[in-house]
Amino acid sequence: MGQKKRRVQGRRRARDMDLSSEDAQTTDPALLNLERLGHVTEVLGELKSGKEATVYLARGPRGLIALKIYRDLQARSFKNDAMYRAGRYIGDTRIEKAIAQRSARGLQAQQGIWTAHEYQRLWQLWSAGLNVPEPLVGPHPSAYTETSPAVLMRFIGDEDAAAPRLSEAVLTPDEARRAWQEALDGMAALLRLGLVHGDYSTYNLLWWENHVMMIDFPQVSDKQNPNFQTLLERDAASLSRSFTRHGVNESAESTLREVQKRARQPGPHPRVQLP
Ligand SMILES: Nc1ncnc2c1ncn2[C@@H]1O[C@H](COP(=O)(O)OP(=O)(O)O)[C@@H](O)[C@H]1O
Ligand SMILES: [Mg+2]
Repeated sequence: MGQKKRRVQGRRRARDMDLSSEDAQTTDPALLNLERLGHVTEVLGELKSGKEATVYLARGPRGLIALKIYRDLQARSFKNDAMYRAGRYIGDTRIEKAIAQRSARGLQAQQGIWTAHEYQRLWQLWSAGLNVPEPLVGPHPSAYTETSPAVLMRFIGDEDAAAPRLSEAVLTPDEARRAWQEALDGMAALLRLGLVHGDYSTYNLLWWENHVMMIDFPQVSDKQNPNFQTLLERDAASLSRSFTRHGVNESAESTLREVQKRARQPGPHPRVQLP
């Protein structure tokens, strides 16, 4: 692991010809489906495997892709919790019941819902001008539902390395101050749109070319969620806590006040108008 850049593990793995992983990549139905649809021409390797999703690095017609595949949803924990689901309307009681019972059909439906939520938020935030990866399928749901359980977005990094998370990046004091300011701006930009991230900390902030990029949006909530204020306070607390490693010492309360103040100021220029 480099100082500022994290090696793209998958690339190394691809060169080392780890056949078991290549096998997995050529037989995984989710990946085969993306190749069939023409979104992916080559899977270069695995970037990160978490308990909720595996992120692959791939190549497609428009360059390098981060491919986030939701899987193993039995293992999903906090993002599934009622706190985020509150105030969300699914509209089909049979599906709601299947999800509550965690049946196979329910899990598949849940997977589709998280995929759609992440695409929808990526499109909304990216077109509003926020620092998030560009979504690569959509914006119409008829296009992106075809890629479920995968979300395709622009890879943040280059041919040599993936952008590090702020939770692992080593920053100079100047860089740390800048990252903190941009992290506050990012949370304020969400709030200006009436949104709260729901898992906002240095683990979901990438550091690339001296800028902060927000990621990981399936649990973003709006003001319909009765827990909105609690989620906002929780995000402010985890953001400030996670930044102490960069020498930033702000209380949860002052962080939230600053975010709220910035949210009342004008935001970034929109990139595009969504249809
Ligand atoms: N667009 C991207 N470009 C580069 N790396 C990414 C991108 N999206 C995700 N990653 C990497 O994959 C990891 C997991 O992605 P994330 O969306 O946070 O999913 P989760 O935390 O639910 O597993 C991130 O911490 C980051 O290291
Ligand atoms: Mg994450």
